[in-house]
Amino acid sequence: MNRALCCALLFLDLSIKWTTQETFPPKYLHHDPETSRPLMCDKCPPGTYLKQHCTARRKTVCAPCPDHYYTDSWHKSDECLYCSPVCKELQYVKQECNRTHNRVCECEEGRYLELEFCLKHRSCPPGFGVLQAGTPERNTVCRRCPDGFFSDETSSKAPCRKHTNCSAFGLLLTQKGNSTHDNICSANSDTQTCGIDVTLCEEAFFRFAVPTKFTPNWLSVLVDNLPGTKVNAESVERIKRRHSSQEQTFQLLKLWKQQNKEQDVVKKIIQDIDLCENGVQRHIGHANLTYEQLRSLMESLPGKKVGIEDIERTRKTCRSSEELPKLLSLWRMRNGDQDTLKGLMHALKHLKTYHFPKTVTHSLRKTIRFLHSFTMYRLYQKLFLEMIGNQVQSVKISCL
Ligand SMILES: *[C@@H]1O[C@H](CO)[C@@H](O)[C@H](O)[C@H]1NC(C)=O
Ligand SMILES: *[C@@H]1O[C@H](CO)[C@@H](O)[C@H](O)[C@H]1NC(C)=O
Ligand SMILES: *[C@@H]1O[C@H](CO)[C@@H](O)[C@H](O)[C@H]1NC(C)=O
Ligand SMILES: *[C@@H]1O[C@H](CO)[C@@H](O)[C@H](O)[C@H]1NC(C)=O
Repeated sequence: MNRALCCALLFLDLSIKWTTQETFPPKYLHHDPETSRPLMCDKCPPGTYLKQHCTARRKTVCAPCPDHYYTDSWHKSDECLYCSPVCKELQYVKQECNRTHNRVCECEEGRYLELEFCLKHRSCPPGFGVLQAGTPERNTVCRRCPDGFFSDETSSKAPCRKHTNCSAFGLLLTQKGNSTHDNICSANSDTQTCGIDVTLCEEAFFRFAVPTKFTPNWLSVLVDNLPGTKVNAESVERIKRRHSSQEQTFQLLKLWKQQNKEQDVVKKIIQDIDLCENGVQRHIGHANLTYEQLRSLMESLPGKKVGIEDIERTRKTCRSSEELPKLLSLWRMRNGDQDTLKGLMHALKHLKTYHFPKTVTHSLRKTIRFLHSFTMYRLYQKLFLEMIGNQVQSVKISCL
């Protein structure tokens, strides 16, 4: 850059600074009509208008704006501005008009102004979350949920949510999530049953062995009389410590079944239980109950209730087809010596007062009938009685 240009720029910069230098009160240039000499008059403050220019002897005269008029800055105008008339449809008055402020109108909650109309904020569809929430002036900004995030709802408020970190909860990832679905975690490696300890079928099969009266040593009697590999004392103690009386029977038979699965008799039992599980899946696996429906169903079961935390956790960790069986097993555990099928029948009676889909109650009734009528059930009752022998009669086996 040559020296002359440099000096010129410097001069320009200085002169701009000089002419725009702030003075207070701000001034404006006025030629006095009497003397024709230029004068620097004071501007008028907000809330007033210019009544008379200054003269060599007198300062500027400003007067307050009349009602419904305003000025909001220092100025040299001889009139005030008219306040905007009443607000538009779907707007409310955010700030009334006074001498220094115009009336401010704003779109109602959930709407924004576009071309004179208050339009509804956009909702982001599943797979998209809210990046910037809508304001009275601006529509919602959505974004596609990035890797590791999801949104399963249509909403003008909800951002993309992080996929549940299964391992952080000590759970296994059973189904990887995507932009519209959360990860599905399961409670243990047995993903087929999502941590359902004793299934409806196992309960139905093993119920015959639950005594009507529990004597102190009934569990040991049962252990001694089961054929094949005996469940060891340590496991029996653990089962006793952890479970209520009825549950002890189920847990013991389940463990015995696992430890003897190579034996022909047990193989047959396992096969038939699997057949039963498939039947139950067929009946209630496609129920797809909503959170609300699960809640009212749990609410209708007698005794101690399965709480909303359990329902939420179950919805996180189980596939939709396993949610109901899991919650029913939680209810049974919580209620000691109850029969899930009886509890379910009770619930169905009470559900009538709710708006519950008929197809679901129908499926549940079919499931109950199915489990009751599963012919193998009575067969095993007989089979077990033979296997276990007459000694167990002393524990007073209950037959349904
Ligand atoms: C006019 O309204 C504004 C904003 O509501 C407020 O800050 C200001 O004090 C009001 N002025 C008078 C003179 O009432
Ligand atoms: C999940 O949590 C575990 C343990 O807290 C952590 O090591 C892992 O990085 C997390 N994974 C993701 C994807 O955030
Ligand atoms: C996301 O996963 C769900 C179920 O896991 C599936 O139904 C859906 O089609 C998937 N969506 C995309 C975009 O991959
Ligand atoms: C239940 O949901 C599954 C998967 O989400 C779907 O394939 C099935 O059609 C649904 N069933 C009903 C009755 O809505």
